[in-house]
Amino acid sequence: MQDGFGRKIDYLRISVTDRCNFRCQYCMSENMTFMPKNQLLTLEEITLIAERFIGHGVKKIRLTGGEPLVRRDMSDVIQRLGRKVKSGELEELTLTTNGSLLEDYADHLALHHVRRINVSMDSLDPIKFKEITRGADVHKVLAGITAAKNAGIKVKINMVALRDFNEHCLLPMAEYCAAENHDLTIIETMPLGDVGADRKLEHIPAEEFIAPLAEKYSIEPTSFKSAGPARYFNVKPLALRMGLITPLSQNFCDNCNRLRLTTDGKIFMCLGHNAHVDLRAAVRDEGIEAVDRLLQKALKLKPLRHEFNAQLDGSAKILERHMNVTGG
Ligand code: GTP
Ligand code: 5AD
Ligand code: SF4
Repeated sequence: MQDGFGRKIDYLRISVTDRCNFRCQYCMSENMTFMPKNQLLTLEEITLIAERFIGHGVKKIRLTGGEPLVRRDMSDVIQRLGRKVKSGELEELTLTTNGSLLEDYADHLALHHVRRINVSMDSLDPIKFKEITRGADVHKVLAGITAAKNAGIKVKINMVALRDFNEHCLLPMAEYCAAENHDLTIIETMPLGDVGADRKLEHIPAEEFIAPLAEKYSIEPTSFKSAGPARYFNVKPLALRMGLITPLSQNFCDNCNRLRLTTDGKIFMCLGHNAHVDLRAAVRDEGIEAVDRLLQKALKLKPLRHEFNAQLDGSAKILERHMNVTGG
């Protein structure tokens, strides 16, 4: 698959639910309302659509949310898509999770060919973690991460950089990741949906966020690539692999390889744009073949780049859609 700018598209991110058992302050408002269940794709529809996309050349699938593991019966989706990894049709099946239910799922994931996962954790400090997630327990997440590691799954920790909140959490986080052999990715906050906070105030460029780490350790660029937009560095002498995801301070859209399937069956062509096609009604009316036609339409709609900078400085309207709907 190629978009209108000649970019090769082979990475599908699927938000399997907009629900989450956390309420991270930069992601959701405290009283977030979720989609009515009758608007959601069924798990069977999600799997059929994903299989159709694999037929069109998708090589990597990431399950996201909300929190993917809060949706009941996720085991079946994982098992079916895992078969595609086994057969070689899919290079990678993975997920981004808040880790809270990983203890229960780790063995199942490993059994069905999930080789690595990304776990969101913005601080190791139980009080700070509780504050940013509005009530969650970091120990539960740490236990989930350990279960994943013990099951042989490679873990990458996602840490969202928040000005005047978690700069001082970076050094202990880097040292924990190095000791446990996890990768670490720092993510700049993106203005998606109203969360009741001033997005401009909470934003901090990744380079500035990692300054305390750079004072203590040497940080050298590497040529390592993962499926997503991170640029990777080696933090010496910790031997920590650290990625920076810098949508605002250093745009990476030229290399974009992905599209997103939302919980309610829309294909969004960019996290920071409204361009989309609606698969749900078409698939229900015409059958799964409708995917083929709408996918071609969607590829033509993919924009050259997001507009997060303009959204942050107020010159463009902030997208109403929250991160949990589009799946990060
Ligand atoms: P891997 O590189 O395969 O580990 O995946 P990833 O880093 O893309 O996945 P993950 O779900 O952990 O995403 C990390 C962060 O990157 C999230 O905050 C995503 O929203 C952000 N991200 C991923 N893809 C894009 C993108 O196309 N545009 C923007 N602006 N952000 C993205
Ligand atoms: N900006 C940046 N990252 C975000 N995430 C959720 N909301 C935002 C936001 N507004 C992160 C989560 C998770 C990943 C999928 O996206 O922490 O790690
Ligand atoms: Fe849930 Fe992830 Fe959003 Fe936090 S960032 S509220 S864990 S979906």
